[in-house]
Amino acid sequence: MKIAILPGDGIGPEIIDQAVKVLNALGESFSMETAPVGGAGYAAHGHPLPEATLTLAKQADAILFGAVGDWQYDTLERALRPEQAILGLRQHLGLFANFRPAILYPELAGASTLKPEIVSGLDILIIRELTGDIYFGKPRGVRIATDGAFIGDREGFDTMRYAETEIRRIAHVAFQAAQKRDKRLTSVDKANVLETFQFWRDIVTDVHKEYPDVALDHMYVDNAAMQLVRAPKKFDVMVTGNMFGDILSDAAAMLTGSIGMLPSASLDANNKGLYEPSHGSAPDIAGKGIANPLATILSAAMMLRFSLGKPEQADRIETAVKKVLSQGLRTADIYEAGTTKVSTAEMGDAVMRALA
Ligand code: IPM
Ligand code: MG
Repeated sequence: MKIAILPGDGIGPEIIDQAVKVLNALGESFSMETAPVGGAGYAAHGHPLPEATLTLAKQADAILFGAVGDWQYDTLERALRPEQAILGLRQHLGLFANFRPAILYPELAGASTLKPEIVSGLDILIIRELTGDIYFGKPRGVRIATDGAFIGDREGFDTMRYAETEIRRIAHVAFQAAQKRDKRLTSVDKANVLETFQFWRDIVTDVHKEYPDVALDHMYVDNAAMQLVRAPKKFDVMVTGNMFGDILSDAAAMLTGSIGMLPSASLDANNKGLYEPSHGSAPDIAGKGIANPLATILSAAMMLRFSLGKPEQADRIETAVKKVLSQGLRTADIYEAGTTKVSTAEMGDAVMRALA
């Protein structure tokens, strides 16, 4: 089995190193090949998603991705900025189903900015549609307005749109994920204002007929944002569009106290996937050895489960992570008095040793 390793920018390389170390310690024979992406791709080949990197990603059975982005590339034209790498991979590989679990490990209950009783035991799953919506809708750009209140003025515009097939396939993914959990699905939309999301609601309601065992409810995105911080444990699985999912998943991540703990998976129709931590490249702490590698290590576990058919190895990694947390080992982002502060590499080593 071939894994494409795309470390990217900022803390990407150092956290990916830890995940690779853990994968190598499992006693499986994976073939791993590394390629530059994001700012690193631009620096090496003049493009954030170099041709050879895309080819490798297409050939591989799964992709382990670090993070992209660095201030030094912020002034480039949009098509050359690091973020285009991840958007390009999602689009070229058809990775339409994004799983973003938000789990609060009991040991870290104090790390959340919310009261422990609101978040302790939190275990929710956000499923975000990842290749449609206003992110990819055309036309888009800047033009001279020909109607509305500002005729003749320059205006920026994007297009929000969802095809029926796109909504159906993400709805099926979400209902099936809910079936494996507590059988409750909340579809998040803005049907009170947007045509696109009234259509979304109608299609999700129709797909629900095939999943009578799952309880479905609909919620407007503004209310969902409020409920996420008011009573997040009421949710089981949430499904939503690309844009709302981007926003809600960051909010959900923060409930757990540390975005440094949360893995994610982006899957195509055949469960080939790209696996990455939910956090960004954090260039301000890059190279200091203080980044938390656990989100990336847990992303490798998701990869073993979803794309590589090795659920028992995924369990081994997840159990090892719980073990190091219960041993009191913490990187700086989750450190509290009475625990032991460790570096990025020490955390990776500890997980490796804790593999049963
Ligand atoms: C994410 C990120 C990306 C997104 C950016 C980096 C393009 O915020 O994965 O949530 O908006 O999807
Ligand atoms: Mg985001």
